[in-house]
Amino acid sequence: MKYGDLIQFEPIETVVQLRDADEVTRARQLVSTYVISDEMAERLTNLVFPQLQFDSPSDNKALLIVGNYGTGKSHLMSVISSIAEHEALLSVLNNEKVAASAQTIAGKFKVVRREIGSTTMSLRDIVTFYLEEALNDMGVIYTFPGASQIPSNKPAFEEMMASFQAVFPDHGLLLVVDELLEYLRTRKDQELILDLNFLREVGEVCKYLRFRFIAGVQEAIFDSPRFIHMADQLRRVKDRFEQILIVRKDVKFVVAERLLKKTGEQQVKIREYLMPFAKFYGHMNERMDEFVRLFPVHPDYIDVFEQIRVVEKREILKTLSYAMKELLNEEVPTDRTRGYSL
Ligand SMILES: Nc1ncnc2c1ncn2[C@@H]1O[C@H](COP(=O)(O)OP(=O)(O)OP(=O)(O)O)[C@@H](O)[C@H]1O
Ligand SMILES: [Mg+2]
Repeated sequence: MKYGDLIQFEPIETVVQLRDADEVTRARQLVSTYVISDEMAERLTNLVFPQLQFDSPSDNKALLIVGNYGTGKSHLMSVISSIAEHEALLSVLNNEKVAASAQTIAGKFKVVRREIGSTTMSLRDIVTFYLEEALNDMGVIYTFPGASQIPSNKPAFEEMMASFQAVFPDHGLLLVVDELLEYLRTRKDQELILDLNFLREVGEVCKYLRFRFIAGVQEAIFDSPRFIHMADQLRRVKDRFEQILIVRKDVKFVVAERLLKKTGEQQVKIREYLMPFAKFYGHMNERMDEFVRLFPVHPDYIDVFEQIRVVEKREILKTLSYAMKELLNEEVPTDRTRGYSL
C-alpha cells in the first residue's frame, strides 16, 4: 500500500494573487476551491457579512484579515470579494449556510482589488490613486483633493461616494487591499502616524457610506511590538476595524479537506493502520479522528511549525505539499509510522 492510495492529494504550491479574482472564471474557481471550516463559516456569517452589508446600517466597520504567511488570507479575500461582486458565485460556495447568509452582500458591490507594492507614497496617496483609477474604469469620474488642501478626508469620501452612487445607485463600493503590513513596515514613525490616521478615517466612513474596506495583514498589527509606540493611534484604528483571524485550526482544516483529502474508505484504512501504533503516541486514541484526517502529517507538526515560523518565512501548506509529493509513491511501512518523520 502506497501513501498515494490513502490520500486524494491536491498540491498547494502557489499563493493566490488577489487580482486573479478580477476575472470571473478565475473568481469562480477560487470560490469553488475554498474549503470552509465550521469556525470560518461562523466568522463569515457573524462578522464578515454583517459588517459588509449596507441594507441595515449597524455601526459598520472595516475588516482586517490576519494570518501567517501562506495561510489563506488572499484566498479568503478573493472569495469574499468575488461573492460581493457576483451573486451567481453563491452557488459554487462549499457551504450552504455560508451561501445563505452571504445573500445580504452577494452581487451588491463594485469591487476594487489592489496589492500594495514597494512604494514611498503615503497610504492616503496609494488608496486615493487606486480608487480614482478604478472608478475611472467604471465610468465614475472623481478626483480627490490634495492631502494638504483638506483638514479631513471624510468629506472627500462622501463626495466620491456621491459620484459613485450617481452612476450605481444600488451598489456599494468595496476596496480590498493586500500586503498592507509589508507596506506599513517600511514607514517611518511620522509617516506611520499619518497612515494610521488615514486608516481610521477609512474605517469611520464605512459607518455611514456604502463604502467598505478589507485589508490583509500577516500579523495582528494591533498587538505587534513593532507598533507599540503608536498605541494611541492603533487603538483608534482598532475601534473602526473588525479582525478576522486565520488560526492553526483553519490551517489544519485546509490540510485535511484539500491538501490531504480522503474518501470514507481511505479513512477507514488509515484508522486500521494507525490503531496498532496508538500506544506509542501520546493521546492518539483520543485524537484518532484528527490523526486520520491529517495523516501522514502528525497533528502536532502543524502546531510546532506555527511556533517556529517567525524564524523564516516558510509557508506551512506549501511545505507540507512538497513533502507529501515526495512521499506519494512510497510504500506505507508496516513496522513503524514512518509518516511521522514529517
Ligand atoms: N480555506 C482554504 N481552502 C482552500 N485552499 C486554501 C484555503 N486556505 C488557503 N488555501 C490555499 O493555500 C495557499 C495559500 O493561500 P494564500 O495565497 O491565500 O495565502 P496568504 O495568506 O495570502 O499568503 P501570503 O502571506 O504569502 O500572501 C493557496 O494555494 C490557497 O489556495
Ligand atoms: Mg497573500
